Amino acid sequence: MSNICSILACPVCGGELTREGGSLLCRQTEKIHTYDVSREGYVSLLPPGKGRNSRSGDESAMIRSRSAFLESGAYDNISDSIGVLIDRFAPRHAVGALTVIDSGCGEGYHSLRIAKKSCELSSDHIMLAAFDASKAGAAHGAKAGARAGLSPKDGVGAEWDRDILVSFMTGNIFSLPVKAGCADAVVSMFAPLALDEMSRVLADDGIVVVAASGEDHLYEMREIIYNDVIKKAPSPKMGDGFTEVCRETVRYKTHLRDSDTIMALFGMTPFCHKAPREGAERLRERKELTVTVHTELFVYRKL
Ligand SMILES: C[S@@+](CC[C@H](N)C(=O)[O-])C[C@H]1O[C@@H](n2cnc3c(N)ncnc32)[C@H](O)[C@@H]1O
Ligand SMILES: [Zn+2]
Repeated sequence: MSNICSILACPVCGGELTREGGSLLCRQTEKIHTYDVSREGYVSLLPPGKGRNSRSGDESAMIRSRSAFLESGAYDNISDSIGVLIDRFAPRHAVGALTVIDSGCGEGYHSLRIAKKSCELSSDHIMLAAFDASKAGAAHGAKAGARAGLSPKDGVGAEWDRDILVSFMTGNIFSLPVKAGCADAVVSMFAPLALDEMSRVLADDGIVVVAASGEDHLYEMREIIYNDVIKKAPSPKMGDGFTEVCRETVRYKTHLRDSDTIMALFGMTPFCHKAPREGAERLRERKELTVTVHTELFVYRKL
């Protein structure tokens, strides 16, 4: 029986969390720390007082753009490849079970696919804890997970006996509300790299899978937006706590068949905040566009 509480820790004091009623409670100190399970089924684990300060979390409009685009399947090859890498490289510190953390999961589309792919390939029980600072992201993930039968309505899976459990939580990836050494793999997909936390939450020999934009990623879109396109190959700065074990390129072209899809993709990229207005207008005029998807996947093992 899976239960995400087995790996969680109170974001205030690090104590054990147990589900009681509609909340998770920590009774480590005299003052009980309480965290709510939302009606969508995600657990709010942002420390008290930080809930309203979600500047680091993507706003709802960005989440909506991202999910509208991702549902088209255009990025599915990326999450599938991550699932394959987890199956291949992650250690199993509990036999037949894999514990994965998605660090900066956005609206959870990839988290659900990664869990499914790893389970399909490995036949292991998969418990995936997906964290994002964005409430809208966690809510979207929890609803999609419940629809797919992968996420429990109670947020934690107290009565969960299926092969895959994906729980969505709001939380700060630089201070994860998770016990040390509990994870076999951490995924960081287009998200900030929280190296110290990754190292702390990983078990011995645990892996990090980093997905970063390759130099040609969305080249055709950038060519329309910017006068000069700067190509930069990604090179994650992992410090000396990790060693690289594998690098894989995922590269293909995808056809965006209407302006809505083009603008949904634009809306989920950093370009939508940075692009010059004329560039965004030029893009808006396009009725279709073929773009290169180029992602570099890096697998690192904790030393
Ligand atoms: C570009 S999005 C990628 C989302 C998802 N991994 C994907 O590939 O679709 C980066 C995500 O990191 C999240 N994020 C940024 N800083 C964070 C922090 N300190 N704690 C939690 N999430 C954070 C943002 O809210 C956003 O959803
Ligand atoms: Zn506590």
